[in-house]
Amino acid sequence: MKDKPYNSMNIPIITIDGPSGSGKGTISKEVANILGWKILDSGSLYRITAFAVRKYNLNINNEVDVKTMLSSLNINFDISCNGEQLIFLNQENITSLVRDEKCGIDASIVARYPSVRGELISLQRSFIETPGLVADGRDMGTVVFPEAGLKIFLTASLEERAKRRHKQLKELGINVSLTAVSRDISIRDKQDQEREHAPLVPASDACIIDSSKMSIKEVSEEIIKLHKYSD
Ligand code: DC
Repeated sequence: MKDKPYNSMNIPIITIDGPSGSGKGTISKEVANILGWKILDSGSLYRITAFAVRKYNLNINNEVDVKTMLSSLNINFDISCNGEQLIFLNQENITSLVRDEKCGIDASIVARYPSVRGELISLQRSFIETPGLVADGRDMGTVVFPEAGLKIFLTASLEERAKRRHKQLKELGINVSLTAVSRDISIRDKQDQEREHAPLVPASDACIIDSSKMSIKEVSEEIIKLHKYSD
């Protein structure tokens, strides 16, 4: 199944899917750094959509309105001088505004809509670039890049994921209790796993890694090893 129109040059792709707080973002950055590849944080696209729903006072339960608004948005990405991804919506830097848990839960709501998912497919595929792409999300290996050379499904216990997410939010200056983070993650897990379109499930050919007791370095090294074998 090579030579798909969206990847006619067969640029290598590693997909890293998994639930909230499984460490996908951190691990994807680490793996992309080691390989010198580009990165796609697909969750940010759903977060931008959710953020815009709030900004423009739309009804999040109205799929047609959400999709129509999404088609009109001007979304851009840039990289800061310290290598962080910057997100611009209609020229406004909204990087820090899309990171809170409310935006995460709303992102999970708009992510249920097939028309929203469909609208974002070509944008996600446009991230493919030489020498390679590490794509993180929920359906990278199952729907967006089904021909990826290596598919990882990264998971961890709810307790561990909540702790990691809590630490991350604290570092971003967002103060919220561990109990609240754990509750929000459970809500999102359920929404993402039980939705009809592109639910969070491992691809049939994915390698499953439980990172509960592994360091970032150990997980990254495991993925690099699997990548070398998959060549
Ligand atoms: O990875 P994240 O926490 O930034 O993702 C926010 C939400 O976006 C997540 O709960 C579900 C949705 N999402 C999705 O449905 N598909 C993706 N590929 C990425 C994220």
